[in-house]
Amino acid sequence: MTCLNKVAMTPPSSDHKRPHTPSSFRFSSLNLVWFLVVPSTVFFLVSTLGPHRPSISPLSSLLQVSFSNNSLQGSSIFNGSSIDSSFQLEAETDYFVSNMPLPDAIIEKHTIQLQDISKNNESESVVIVTSKIVKKNSKLERNEANLARVRSSIKQAALVRNLTSTHQDPDYVPHGPIYRNANAFHRSYLEMEKVFKIYVYKEGEPPIFHNGPCRSIYSSEGRFIHELEKGNFYTTEDPDEALVYFLPFSVVMLVQYLYEPETSNTDAIGRTVVDYIDVISGKYPYWNRSLGADHFMLSCHDWGPRTSSYVPHLFHKSIRVLCNANTSEGFNPSKDASFPEINLLTGRLHGYIRYLLLNEWKDKRDPDVQVFDQLPKGVSYMSKLKNSRFCLCPSGYEVASPRIVEAIYAECVPVLISDNYVPPFSDVLNWKSFSIQIAVKDIPNIKKILMGVSQRQYLRMQRRVKQVQRHFVVNATPKRYDVFHMINHSIWLRRLNIHVRYFHQS
Ligand SMILES: *[C@@H]1O[C@H](CO)[C@@H](O)[C@H](O)[C@H]1NC(C)=O
Ligand SMILES: *[C@@H]1O[C@H](CO)[C@@H](O)[C@H](O)[C@H]1NC(C)=O
Ligand SMILES: *[C@@H]1O[C@H](CO)[C@@H](O)[C@H](O)[C@H]1NC(C)=O
Ligand SMILES: *[C@@H]1O[C@H](CO)[C@@H](O)[C@H](O)[C@H]1NC(C)=O
Ligand SMILES: *[C@@H]1O[C@H](CO)[C@@H](O)[C@H](O)[C@H]1NC(C)=O
Ligand SMILES: *[C@@H]1O[C@H](CO)[C@@H](O)[C@H](O)[C@H]1NC(C)=O
Ligand SMILES: *[C@@H]1O[C@H](CO)[C@@H](O)[C@H](O)[C@H]1NC(C)=O
Repeated sequence: MTCLNKVAMTPPSSDHKRPHTPSSFRFSSLNLVWFLVVPSTVFFLVSTLGPHRPSISPLSSLLQVSFSNNSLQGSSIFNGSSIDSSFQLEAETDYFVSNMPLPDAIIEKHTIQLQDISKNNESESVVIVTSKIVKKNSKLERNEANLARVRSSIKQAALVRNLTSTHQDPDYVPHGPIYRNANAFHRSYLEMEKVFKIYVYKEGEPPIFHNGPCRSIYSSEGRFIHELEKGNFYTTEDPDEALVYFLPFSVVMLVQYLYEPETSNTDAIGRTVVDYIDVISGKYPYWNRSLGADHFMLSCHDWGPRTSSYVPHLFHKSIRVLCNANTSEGFNPSKDASFPEINLLTGRLHGYIRYLLLNEWKDKRDPDVQVFDQLPKGVSYMSKLKNSRFCLCPSGYEVASPRIVEAIYAECVPVLISDNYVPPFSDVLNWKSFSIQIAVKDIPNIKKILMGVSQRQYLRMQRRVKQVQRHFVVNATPKRYDVFHMINHSIWLRRLNIHVRYFHQS
């Protein structure tokens, strides 16, 4: 896997200045204590009406499956019926336009040229200076013009109400009800491949920067950071060409190295993040011109939201790609992206909702709803998943659950149990078509709810789970439409929503 050779992936440090590290930035082995809670794992398997028991409850058609009401604002471009209403894809109104004049950095840079040339002819040199500034700006303007074209092409594509995308694709043509709008998604995806460019700031040293965990429930964070660092796909070395800027710190690493569990002191984490933003906003014009709106961070740690809160613009304006996609903790689906939590290792119970589930179901010994604290000896987790009809995916300490992706891998229909959770890729995927969402208060009714899913409906959902697998697969070398590309697509969509421009003083 990519994580294995991470040393080779750290960028060369020679030609770039690193930011000051706070005094508490130490790497002694004492600091290597894993504060993080090791993965949860309780096996919540529901074998209601297992595959081998096709009998259908006569009540089934009467019972409605209740779906929780996750708000998915910012996603309606892929919902053909509401393109014109809510999605801010129409970049016309208030964007994150900074009220900064043309940044000093650019002018300064070219003042040097001015002095050189002015030895010969002053008026000539002035012309050169101006044209340099215009050129810098025109890259941004060209990017924005490109995005405007892309927006309208996606909107056009969204008008096609066809379950199958009408675009050609040698690898895969999105189709079927798993998508909110297969044609719009496909158009957007193809455009992303053409124009998306990410710039990864070079500042910062491993292990906190340019590095991340490769194992445990936080591995999606590390894997994605390593993919970005390899820069194979959409990265650019020219920050003026980039559409988004990656802030390459790992929250897991920040917590691992800087958190002081004895005193519960998180100051050093906050200082590091503030310092980092200071360094990149002082050195480059990009943060200031958008107030961070075209910058993104990612975190699978449940402290992702807290870590971003040290810099208000990072919290409120930047794109935050978070496993902890809890709308009650400030997750904003129209600018933040939900990051799937992926882990194939198994651990122990954690979290309140798991506790509720165990409490409710463990001792009932209902053969239809099997909730295990630990699996019985000799039973493999994957085989249990595979033989289950529905797999319960309760929240842990944070709202996300690695169970969701595990269930999808096992072709088991996921039952999402949480409040305020925005599932990954919700702007593209129609989760209702292949999963069941249950509010925490409905835990006692799980059986009733699941019995209410008719056999036909169940088989349809299960078929869709198989189809949606492609979007959650972690490939050693990323393949089109796999989980990495889907995360990139989530970020890309958020970027489409904003319009960055300089405020011209005339
Ligand atoms: C469902 O969503 C609608 C619209 O966002 C909201 O008004 C309503 O209160 C929500 N219902 C619940 C139960 O969350
Ligand atoms: C699509 O949008 C319409 C109108 O806003 C809404 O009534 C409908 O529930 C949406 N469908 C989905 C799947 O979000
Ligand atoms: C500078 O260049 C301009 C136009 O090229 C010319 O008219 C002017 O005489 C030059 N001045 C000097 C001092 O060479
Ligand atoms: C919808 O998709 C089907 C299957 O790909 C295709 O035959 C049909 O022409 C499409 N309809 C439109 C209006 O594009
Ligand atoms: C997502 O974008 C980043 C940055 O350009 C790139 O390094 C990475 O490879 C992309 N991911 C995939 C799976 O293409
Ligand atoms: C960005 O803004 C900060 C604070 O206002 C300022 O200190 C910094 O110099 C600015 N950066 C650039 C490149 O102008
Ligand atoms: C989501 O956030 C709210 C507010 O902080 C919290 O009460 C709730 O427990 C969180 N949900 C989960 C599942 O962590």
